[in-house]
Amino acid sequence: MIPEGTQPATIHPFKGNIDLGKVEDLLKREGDRVPFGMLTVTNNSGGGQPVSMANIRAYAELLHKYGKPMILDVCRFAENAMFIKLREEGMQDRTPESIAKEMFRLADGCTMSAKKDAMVNIGGFIALKNEKWVEAARNLLILTEGFSTYGGLAGRDLEAMAVGLEEGLHEDYLRYRLRTAEYMGEKLIAGGVGIVRPTGGHAVYIDAKTFLPHLGPQDYPAWSLANALYLEGGIRGVEIGSVMFGKRLEDGTETYSNMELVRLAFPRRVYTQSHFDFAAEVICEVKAKAEQVRGVRIVKQSKYLRHFAAEMAWA
Ligand SMILES: Cc1ncc(COP(=O)(O)O)c(C=O)c1O
Repeated sequence: MIPEGTQPATIHPFKGNIDLGKVEDLLKREGDRVPFGMLTVTNNSGGGQPVSMANIRAYAELLHKYGKPMILDVCRFAENAMFIKLREEGMQDRTPESIAKEMFRLADGCTMSAKKDAMVNIGGFIALKNEKWVEAARNLLILTEGFSTYGGLAGRDLEAMAVGLEEGLHEDYLRYRLRTAEYMGEKLIAGGVGIVRPTGGHAVYIDAKTFLPHLGPQDYPAWSLANALYLEGGIRGVEIGSVMFGKRLEDGTETYSNMELVRLAFPRRVYTQSHFDFAAEVICEVKAKAEQVRGVRIVKQSKYLRHFAAEMAWA
């Protein structure tokens, strides 16, 4: 039961949509430096939010007008297709598979991290429509992974991926999955925890700024909250905040992100409802003693993508 007043009056159903005006400005200003446009379905760093078919189509048309290919990052293509079915006008009678096919028809290529919607343990692929690009990529593959028939993934893993790509589009599975995120979101909202709304496809994103209001950006609140959840109940989330998007500049000053989120991503076909109930209970217990949670400091960081390898300490 969601308490009154915790839901905003209007919720944008396609928060993952790309801002076409900004893209066009960029293409006009610096188009020469843009080799292609990329669109991620769904948006992982912004709440797992979907992109509408109308936005995918308009983005492809815009890029094509400027002679640029559109490449999709499709690691969550099936969840995005299901959101389109549930939320976009005129799509209700379509299957997720037919919606996904339309998304792929609009694109010139895609990248896929297959451990997401292809439901395999590891691996991925790049798919391209232009034969010349395929040839160039295959040649590079020989240098980096081995010849295309034996390098990279084994045939057995590729077969598992083919099955996963199909099963990942089953409507009953997708309905259950999206409802799971929604269920978890409802529990957290009922417990007074701020989350990104509406809930996305693969995760719930806790707003660490409102969870730990006594911490400032220099305390890396989302990182600190992720630690606290792990210590309290083994809940393993990830920071999507200033460690990920901020920077330490040459002169030692820090830049911070506006977002301080903890992403709780859900592995596919792993957890039962009672796991989610447990996770929500743990989060609410941490909330009850939130003022005791301290900030963290970065002790050591790598030059690039510091959130993968940073070493932290309690402040
Ligand atoms: C949208 C998106 N694209 C790409 C990746 C990269 O996946 P991998 O680590 O399997 O290369 C991720 C990983 O979380 C992701 O969320």
